[in-house]
Amino acid sequence: MLVSAKEMLTKAKEGHYAVGQFNINNLEWTKAILLTAQECNSPVILGVSEGAGKYMAGYKTVVGMVNGMLEELNITVPVALHLDHGSYEGCLKCIEAGFSSVMFDGSHYPIEENVAKTTELVKLTNEKGLSLEAEVGSIGGEEDGVVGAGECADPNECKAIADLGVTMLAAGIGNIHGKYPDNWAGLSFETLDAVQKLTGKMPLVLHGGTGIPEDMIKKAIDLGVSKINVNTECQLSFAAATREYIEAGKDLQGKGFDPRKLLAPGFEAIKATVKEKMELFGSINKA
Ligand code: 13P
Repeated sequence: MLVSAKEMLTKAKEGHYAVGQFNINNLEWTKAILLTAQECNSPVILGVSEGAGKYMAGYKTVVGMVNGMLEELNITVPVALHLDHGSYEGCLKCIEAGFSSVMFDGSHYPIEENVAKTTELVKLTNEKGLSLEAEVGSIGGEEDGVVGAGECADPNECKAIADLGVTMLAAGIGNIHGKYPDNWAGLSFETLDAVQKLTGKMPLVLHGGTGIPEDMIKKAIDLGVSKINVNTECQLSFAAATREYIEAGKDLQGKGFDPRKLLAPGFEAIKATVKEKMELFGSINKA
């Protein structure tokens, strides 16, 4: 059964580790992530962007697929199904469809409007026992066509949003989605430290997990990050493994064109990436 992300993140914050959010795109992604979480005895959060939800034929399809896998693959570790960077309307749709967690990304609104919309969603998610992630300070890079500059959040605005009673808070600390450019200045630990001091026990979320050096990940966890989002890295490892298979001409040998064979190396590559991240984040055996 899907669970809210509240308990797993409270434990992570107390235990000084982080739970990975891995974004899903299709059946192979979902199965690879769930099986790896089970093998690693780790809690996990499946992230679904609005674009990926549409790609997978809608939120109800996603809920059906994930619930089916939890049962048929005997997944017993805590799993949350979470809307990533949702609009207000997207949150309502996912709640209705059976997601156990949603993110409302109001970071592009003036703070008053972010507060007002987040307040409404706190009420709604509390009534249903779901977890809610809010965001202050936009995360840079491109995701679903939305490009942000990677700003640093105002710690006082973070406190204002945290005090509304959200479950977890994403604060921009110079992080961006996708690959980091060569001239990237790194994470702003000064901002993270200031946010953590004002928000106390609130689990903080680090977006743009792809390509952040290991020492920065560890320091971010030390400073209160309890959820780390990874998307692009699984896409890159899937693509590289698939390319290798095709370039070796394996799709042309025997029944190598069968999608169950053609997609197998990519599937294994996602599993390896997820395991590596779970080790780095410290969530192994924390289910
Ligand atoms: P990356 O694609 O950079 O790993 O970021 C994922 C993310 O933050 C999803 O919200």
